Amino acid sequence: MIPTISLGAGALAAHKAPLLALALDDTTELTDQVRELDSALAGAISRATGNRDFRGARDETLLLSGAASGPRMVLLIGMGAVSDRGGSLRRAAAIAARHASKLGVADMTWHGGALNEREVEAAALGLAAGAWEYTETRTQPPENERRTPLGSVTIAAESSPAAARGLANGHALAEGHSLARRLAMMPGNLCTPDYLAETAGEIAGRHGMKVTVWGRTEMQEEGMGSFLAVAQGTPQDPKLIVLEYNGARNGGAPIALVGKGLCFDSGGISIKPPQNMELMKFDMCGAAGVLGAFEAIGRMKLEVNVVGVIGATTNMPSGTAFKPGDVVRSHLGKYIEVVNTDAEGRMVLADLLSYVRRFNPVVTIDAATLTGAVVIALGHTATGVFSNDDALTAEVIDAGKRAGEPGWPLPLWDEYKELIKSDVADMKNAGGRAAGSTSAAMFLKEFTEGMQWIHLDIAGTAYSETDLVALPKGPTGVPVGTFVEFVRGRAS
Ligand code: BES
Ligand code: MN
Ligand code: ZN
Repeated sequence: MIPTISLGAGALAAHKAPLLALALDDTTELTDQVRELDSALAGAISRATGNRDFRGARDETLLLSGAASGPRMVLLIGMGAVSDRGGSLRRAAAIAARHASKLGVADMTWHGGALNEREVEAAALGLAAGAWEYTETRTQPPENERRTPLGSVTIAAESSPAAARGLANGHALAEGHSLARRLAMMPGNLCTPDYLAETAGEIAGRHGMKVTVWGRTEMQEEGMGSFLAVAQGTPQDPKLIVLEYNGARNGGAPIALVGKGLCFDSGGISIKPPQNMELMKFDMCGAAGVLGAFEAIGRMKLEVNVVGVIGATTNMPSGTAFKPGDVVRSHLGKYIEVVNTDAEGRMVLADLLSYVRRFNPVVTIDAATLTGAVVIALGHTATGVFSNDDALTAEVIDAGKRAGEPGWPLPLWDEYKELIKSDVADMKNAGGRAAGSTSAAMFLKEFTEGMQWIHLDIAGTAYSETDLVALPKGPTGVPVGTFVEFVRGRAS
């Protein structure tokens, strides 16, 4: 549940919430407003900064007790040396909300100094992200042992029309992120292709968007042999989900957002080792990113046209499953030799990328947890970015930076085409271990001729196997922020 977030001015010491969180950078200089609070606390903050009990280092926290009246607890949060103030505020806000949730306080006041519109947005998004929890598949503890969820937060800052807009946009983004994270966290037996289609229908209903859902039959009629090969091993009906948002005043070609939606990836006949296989429920984070972005875009009412395309299925071994050596005909007409059934994401995306042409998109961005190799190359810090257009690469990386979702370009040169050469078909679906993320992207490139296209390999960034201080282990919300920032940048 996203806490109710509002703006409230006035003396910090006069705020009624039990917890007051203050974000400070490593200069630990106190503004007049914080100095006034410090006096009310009999100098507790200046004493902590003076004797270096609190240095304002990034992610550092110190919990102080409050005075006889006003907030009972004061939490200092360090932002370190701040270069990107929005990013630092977002992070400090997330840490504050996580802390509040752990303490079990229902209300919190958060203060990070004077804030412009974008900074209010960043703070609101951070607060919601830090308070996010996945509780859907766990029995709640008895009432007396239950921690109170963080229900409301006041951002202690001057309210203004700009600040109110920042708050609304932050809330819209938070709804998108939180939806994407919930879908990602849901296990494969609950988050099925049907469930993703149902969720898309709800988003469309809430925001007056058009939704189209195809099953196996419609995809057969359209000749989507590549996507259908992946879906061949599961009795569940695969779903091609299309969302259309028309926000532009004067029409115009849409931006296309495309997402890999493998509700579970066992590897198929080329089955994965059992170790950590459960993490492959996260193989639909690209799809969750598209749905989250549409939720946010709908709430923000951006003046732009966007089409979202999701390919949802499950990669399973079975008597009907596709197998190494099979050759299939893709929607575009190119033939693919399957050499590894675990390289399934690119086969789903191939048909989505050729299908999306009918919308004549100005630009197509796909996001997919596509390769383990991108985790080897960039770790869990940066998304791998591949494009046939350098200006577009710069634009998307910039959008990612604004969203706190860093991306880094990797090559897509013709020299790499060698890696996916087949003896029997136009290409094979997997190269070797060398340049594994690039060979996957080269495969996609075969289906994007003449399109402005960019591919985000989010296998390392969409979820985390360890606690991240600001976020718990699990889904991060990537690529919702990059998608929305890019679309926003293109909106009139
Ligand atoms: N979904 C996986 C990629 C993945 C791996 C995501 C680890 C997150 C963490 C993808 O479908 C896959 O299995 N890729 C293979 C490709 C290989 C068979 C060419 C891989 O990366 O090993
Ligand atoms: Mn796979
Ligand atoms: Zn996969």
